[in-house]
Amino acid sequence: MLIWLTKSDEETYQLGKVIGENARPGDIFLLYGDLGSGKTVLSRGISHGAGYKGLVTSPTFTLMNIYEGRYPVYHFDIYRINYPEELYDLDYEEFFFGTGITIVEWSEKLGSLLPSEYLKITISQIAGENTRRIAVEPIGNKYIIWKELLKSNEGIGN
Ligand SMILES: Nc1ncnc2c1ncn2[C@@H]1O[C@H](COP(=O)(O)OP(=O)(O)OP(=O)(O)O)[C@@H](O)[C@H]1O
Ligand SMILES: [Mg+2]
Repeated sequence: MLIWLTKSDEETYQLGKVIGENARPGDIFLLYGDLGSGKTVLSRGISHGAGYKGLVTSPTFTLMNIYEGRYPVYHFDIYRINYPEELYDLDYEEFFFGTGITIVEWSEKLGSLLPSEYLKITISQIAGENTRRIAVEPIGNKYIIWKELLKSNEGIGN
């Protein structure tokens, strides 16, 4: 597990950008963390790092936004779903297991639909209003490479 401590939304955004710059088609980034922890800030960084130039906001009501970067970016916010099965109505598999990049806010809600391989990103608020602990953990073989991709990245947080 790799851990960063970011001290501002800008630092979280920059970490997201590095993740997005390294993203490849088919990558799934599952974000965990409370309300206001910084999931959308990180998603904005990932999306811009993946080459998208526009606005990134939480798709709380629509459940998903699609951005055009170097690859399509599927930005989910599933806070409002009551059952994971509601994602079938969105044809979520087409996105999760397609050739774009998938970002999910409120991954806690995936329940039984949790994929077997993904990059797990957990954001927690710790001491100090603007400090966040961001833990990145590869789940499954496909994501082990991320330890190398991100370890060499310095100057953000730790
Ligand atoms: N180190 C930090 N990293 C990220 N955001 C920070 C940080 N410090 C302060 N903030 C602030 O915390 C808020 C994070 O908001 P954001 O919308 O990204 O949270 P969220 O996890 O997506 O919330 P929600 O669950 O409502 O979707 C912003 O107002 C941001 O400016
Ligand atoms: Mg959000």
